[in-house]
Amino acid sequence: MSKKWFPPQSDLERGVDGLHIDDVTPDTVATSSRYTFTSGPETEPLVPPIFHSSTYKLRSVDDYLKILEEGGYIYSRLGNFTCDSVQAAINGIEGGKGTLVFGTGMAAISTALLCFLKSGDHIVVNNPCYSGTFDMVVNILPRYGIDHTFVPTGCPVEEYRKHIKSNTRMLYGETPCNPNMAVLDLEEFGKLGRSLDNTLTMVDSTFASPYLQPVIKHGIDISMHSCTKYLGGHSDLVGGCLTFASVDLWKTVIHYQISLGTTLSPHDASLLLRGIKTLPVRMERHSSNAQKVAEFLEKHPKVERVMYPGLPSHPQHQIAKKQMKMFSGMIAAEIKGGVQGGKILAEGVRLIQLAVSLGGVESLIEHPATMTHGPMLMTSEDRLSGGITDGLIRLSIGLEDADDLIKDLKQALDKIPDSLIA
Ligand SMILES: Cc1ncc(COP(=O)(O)O)c(C=O)c1O
Repeated sequence: MSKKWFPPQSDLERGVDGLHIDDVTPDTVATSSRYTFTSGPETEPLVPPIFHSSTYKLRSVDDYLKILEEGGYIYSRLGNFTCDSVQAAINGIEGGKGTLVFGTGMAAISTALLCFLKSGDHIVVNNPCYSGTFDMVVNILPRYGIDHTFVPTGCPVEEYRKHIKSNTRMLYGETPCNPNMAVLDLEEFGKLGRSLDNTLTMVDSTFASPYLQPVIKHGIDISMHSCTKYLGGHSDLVGGCLTFASVDLWKTVIHYQISLGTTLSPHDASLLLRGIKTLPVRMERHSSNAQKVAEFLEKHPKVERVMYPGLPSHPQHQIAKKQMKMFSGMIAAEIKGGVQGGKILAEGVRLIQLAVSLGGVESLIEHPATMTHGPMLMTSEDRLSGGITDGLIRLSIGLEDADDLIKDLKQALDKIPDSLIA
């Protein structure tokens, strides 16, 4: 077999429009050496390359407008091949009409809210919800003249209907909800949204992942995920996404995304694309592990209450069964002994890590009343009205062996003194 191997040559060495490497100094070679594949049959990388380039070389001045009108790449904030690859993948899982990826989950949420709400508008949101969303609704939107009403998380969809006003432009739900795992009936929510003119439904489905709960298929207008969590799956990136039920919605938001500059970096897009390839198998293991852990916790004498959609005791278990393929990896549990009980457990685990965030391969634990939903953000009345009790802990169950996780929780629960519970 004869093989001809040659050292790669830069475009300048081969000559570009008559300009040759000998015509320029080494300083210019350093900045301007580019390489184009030229010999042999063209091949395609199996994994899409990371397009780090912030800008793109145009063939003609006229191409600039042509690309703006017809598509293509000019500048990475406007569009990037690596981001497009991941957008296409997420949209396929969601069954949507278009997806956009963002620098964080909050960038996705804030872009959507600023895009679809204006001064004088009103939004109905469930409370509790993710703390960043709560902050946005309570402290930021009012500065732009946007008013809100909270409905209790886990309430029937009818509650949303009761609070709709002539200026209500969005109904916003989170399911399963952070941190108390309450579930919203997506089919009913979608039906309510569709019965209204000029009011969009948006659902944060981060705790479930689009694999377990494809929101758009339930008639919701906008599906939101923090890609930092299950979609990425390895706790090594931050990102967010929105998937839309119509191309028009997608077109409206991309305009805002470009101007707000909330784009995802191509490097994170590449990590996200890699994570998504194993999403189904990870979600199955997260769910089967969490089911075992939730069943263990529910029987433990130092645990007051377990909120996991896969348990028949969960108030919306039947709704969860209807709309989720499996019940995901997130568990909330109220530990006896109040703040102290919750803290002893969160600090007493050895395999599970004490950390915020969720959805990665390693199991994590946190104490919402002092951490994510703590006094920095919420008053104790707000917390209690949302069911965030002092002893509540939130677990993100990873991919370890379920029995090892149970052993770890058991030894940490043993550290809570009986005197604290009595
Ligand atoms: C349910 C939910 N939505 C949105 C977010 C925000 O995502 P990010 O941290 O990627 O901005 C989080 C973060 O924890 C979350 O838990």
